[in-house]
Amino acid sequence: MADKQKIQQTITKITLALLILGALVALVHVFTERRDWVIPPEAKTMKNPMTDSVKALRDAQPIYREHCAQCHGDTGKGDGREAKSHSTLPPDFTEPGRIANQEDGVLFYKISEGKRPMPSFRKRLTEEQRWELVLLVRVLAESGGSPEVNPNPHP
Ligand code: HEC
Repeated sequence: MADKQKIQQTITKITLALLILGALVALVHVFTERRDWVIPPEAKTMKNPMTDSVKALRDAQPIYREHCAQCHGDTGKGDGREAKSHSTLPPDFTEPGRIANQEDGVLFYKISEGKRPMPSFRKRLTEEQRWELVLLVRVLAESGGSPEVNPNPHP
């Protein structure tokens, strides 16, 4: 009898511990997702080393389609097929001023570091590829969501 009680007490304790753990994980999740980007000051002064913007944009398009469009959408409006499956919606790059008001280095930093649910691309893409994407994001922002990232680029 006493044994049964002990087992029940243990189960209650374990359940409580799991509940608390679950609540903590949820809190950390919400916290990391809601906080703003923290941009180090030195990122703001970084210059985009891409000199050939035609080549950069051509290179960036397939990378964008593979790694970014599922959330940010083909035209950067934040309407990719996976956009709604995360608790934070991807921003609309074409919103006036949103991208224009940010330095190249800041966009580069954001693409490199990511911010939940956006993954970090520091290891997945080379530095050059990330700078090329900065240019592409600007073009998408400036073209107001059209034209689409060309699905069949002719080099
Ligand atoms: C899983 C979905 C997802 C993927 C994949 C993704 N992003 Fe994002 N991205 C987001 C979300 C969500 C935000 C907004 C984060 C926030 O502010 O909390 C964001 C923010 C950004 C921003 C900052 C926009 C601003 O207004 O400051 C840039 C730039 C950006 N993403 C570029 C990219 C590029 C380039 C890629 C591909 C290499 C990419 N993202 C891949 C979801 C994604």
